[in-house]
Amino acid sequence: MSGVRHYLLPGAWGYIYFSYFNSPAARLLPKGLGKDPAGGPRLRHILMADSLFSLVKAAPEDPILGVGQQFKADTRPQKVNLSVGMYQTEEGKIPVLKVVREAETRLFNSEIPHAYGPISGNPALPAFIQELLFGKDSEVIRSKRACTVQSLGGTGALKLAADLLHVVVGKTKAATSVPTWGNHNTIFSQAGYELAHYQYYDKAQGAIPFEHMLDDLRALDTGTVVILHACCHNPTGLDFSAEQWGEVLKVVIDRGLVPVLDIAYQGFNQGLDEDAAAIRLFAKAGISFLVSSSFSKNFSLYGERIGGLTVVTQSEEEAKRILSQVKQMARANYSNPPNYGGNLVAIVAGDPALRAEWKEEVTAMRKRIREMRFALVKAMEEAGTPRDFSFVTRQNGMFSFTGFTPDQIERLKKEYAIYAVGNGRICIAGINNHNVEYVAKAFTAVQKN
Ligand SMILES: Cc1ncc(COP(=O)(O)O)c(C=O)c1O
Repeated sequence: MSGVRHYLLPGAWGYIYFSYFNSPAARLLPKGLGKDPAGGPRLRHILMADSLFSLVKAAPEDPILGVGQQFKADTRPQKVNLSVGMYQTEEGKIPVLKVVREAETRLFNSEIPHAYGPISGNPALPAFIQELLFGKDSEVIRSKRACTVQSLGGTGALKLAADLLHVVVGKTKAATSVPTWGNHNTIFSQAGYELAHYQYYDKAQGAIPFEHMLDDLRALDTGTVVILHACCHNPTGLDFSAEQWGEVLKVVIDRGLVPVLDIAYQGFNQGLDEDAAAIRLFAKAGISFLVSSSFSKNFSLYGERIGGLTVVTQSEEEAKRILSQVKQMARANYSNPPNYGGNLVAIVAGDPALRAEWKEEVTAMRKRIREMRFALVKAMEEAGTPRDFSFVTRQNGMFSFTGFTPDQIERLKKEYAIYAVGNGRICIAGINNHNVEYVAKAFTAVQKN
């Protein structure tokens, strides 16, 4: 052992904290200080700085948020951020939705105190979230067989789901798509799961290798938790058709898998209701499953950490028991969720006019992204792309999986100040009419030489 060591010396006046270099320095201690009256070691070695953390390696930089930091530091005026999953306006700004602004004004004027809220979050949210997920007239809502808690964004909902299924239900295996949003793997492995995977992307076809994927699902052990992207798959932008969802559901039931449906982009593909089709299909099948919702994107409330975990069970009584367990998970992790984002969403949810306006604002975001998909493809053709880029218009949601190699992504950054994720994912919402030509020329150039 080498380096600084730390000892506690019990003494009549309390504990004196000692820190000194290893043995040579230890020899300088007064004679007898190393012994206690009973003859045992007087110096009690407690693990401190060097021995506790000296072998811990630095964790890798987050592949997405890390790129965002590099983008911020870049001083080139032409820079374009296509890395992070945040919607940006035509002016390249992250919007504050009009309904959010209105809710903020009402909240400000209400002068409610910053008191602790309930463990399960704002009491208005479960009904709103369940209506978004299952539809107004859903059997799940009528029978009360689902419970919902407010969570710290979609990430927090996934963590609660992982903890509930592992700690309370005893699940030990979880399967994610390849590729997936990287945090799926981190959340579930850190929650104690052994990870398995199902293939979701065929590079040559630029499509989901559906039969291969079903085989991967069939090969999972019974009881495996399977994380499915309910819409707008991140990062590929490729979703199952309605028929394919039916086949996935069949395998889930046949193999006894435990579905966690992650819906972080509700409203960004076809519409708020349409994008919940997979969830409604699973609900109709009468099985138990979990859903993580996020309001980060569709309310543009990224930093407020607002979302929800919904657990669909078999009865009202079961839902009550599960709710009590989820609350215990929440209590032990963060006690109760922050009030602010929950209050804003609850204000919009509680006012039919604001709700209608919110739907329109989501539609506007969705339409702009779709327009940019077509604008990019057109600009790529005009720039003389050596590869057909029309696949971009067949992908959904905020992202496109471009097939760019890590080398090409690096060149885009170094030579053109265009930032994207190393796996080739670009955020279409970072493109606008001002930069689309520049982006297309750069994309074309890095493919040619
Ligand atoms: C697929 C997927 N799930 C969950 C999340 C988490 O969302 P939130 O920011 O609300 O935690 C994201 C965010 O990018 C995502 O892409």
